[in-house]
Amino acid sequence: EKGNYRHFMQKEIFEQPIVVAQTLRSYLRRVEQTVSLPQIDFDLASINRVTIVACGTSYYAGMVAKYWFEQFARLPVDIDVASEFRYRDPVLEPGGLALFISQSGETADTLAALRHCKAAGQTIAVVVNVPTSSMAREADLLLPTHAGPEIGVASTKAFSCQLAVLAALAAHLAVKRGRLSREEEALIVNQLAETPAALNAALSHDEEIAAMAPLIAPARDVLYLGRGPDYPLALEGALKLKEISYIHAEGYASGEMKHGPIALIDESVPVIVLAPSGPLFEKTVSNMQEVRARGGKIVLISDAEGLAEAGEGCLATIEMPKVHPLIAPLVYAVPVQLLAYHVAVAKGTDVDQPRNLAKSVTVE
Ligand code: F6R
Repeated sequence: EKGNYRHFMQKEIFEQPIVVAQTLRSYLRRVEQTVSLPQIDFDLASINRVTIVACGTSYYAGMVAKYWFEQFARLPVDIDVASEFRYRDPVLEPGGLALFISQSGETADTLAALRHCKAAGQTIAVVVNVPTSSMAREADLLLPTHAGPEIGVASTKAFSCQLAVLAALAAHLAVKRGRLSREEEALIVNQLAETPAALNAALSHDEEIAAMAPLIAPARDVLYLGRGPDYPLALEGALKLKEISYIHAEGYASGEMKHGPIALIDESVPVIVLAPSGPLFEKTVSNMQEVRARGGKIVLISDAEGLAEAGEGCLATIEMPKVHPLIAPLVYAVPVQLLAYHVAVAKGTDVDQPRNLAKSVTVE
């Protein structure tokens, strides 16, 4: 039931601190400060390559994971949407881990890709929210998210729980491959354990985001920009807005703006920039200046440091807590979800049952 919330999507956005904590509980040993995977009866040390396959929002979680697996575990990662992967005759060599990410565990293209990889001798890992689903049953390595039933068609809490599991998996693979010291593993465990509090801090900006929604609601097009592991968040932000508010939105890697999309910029196109402060922040600031010089209206989502440096002259700003780069994608998911939600409410669309969409896509 919706309780005090107006929509399931809203309720599910606000459940994230609890369900992410719930999910992390089965992957982190807080006292030992280690990452441990449930139900694992084989050694992942021999994995030499990861292939990630998923659709939609689950695919964007996989894109974030690619950054983590490469950075922490030094594992080469191939990633594709399931509908492309299946038909492109991918190279699958022995020793590969094929990783499927799905809320429902029933998405037809993802399930078919799983069976294809199984037949090709890959070890099958599945990050899935429905424990009784087909994908859960067919996995060699089952990595459940504990988001609880997700009712809103637009995925929110399943996404953040997927990211939590994938971060733990990245750390586990890194340990197995001798790429992470005890201290580094402990640091990751401690950072992940802080995620629920950081999600609460992000959620505290709900009213402010609701107040800025009428500025975005009249737009015909919206762009989202991000870099590194926050680039997939730009894609996710654009998808959420498209799905429930029917506003055309695109996500781009910040550095790609000048290679084409900047031609779209004028006063009528809001640009949502996701940019935690850090080594690449300066680059994003110069991308923002290019947008501003063409009359573009920027909504900057950053931490206090980033906003102090680049918040001036923006249409609006949203302050996120300053977090470790590892958990930034989880935290920055919240404002993009809330923005899409409030814009849809402002437009009066059916938030929980957007037109033309089904919760589980069981046709190919
Ligand atoms: C977006 C959304 C879809 C799903 C996609 C995959 O809000 O819900 O893009 O993420 O259909 O579904 P699952 O994760 O069930 O495989």
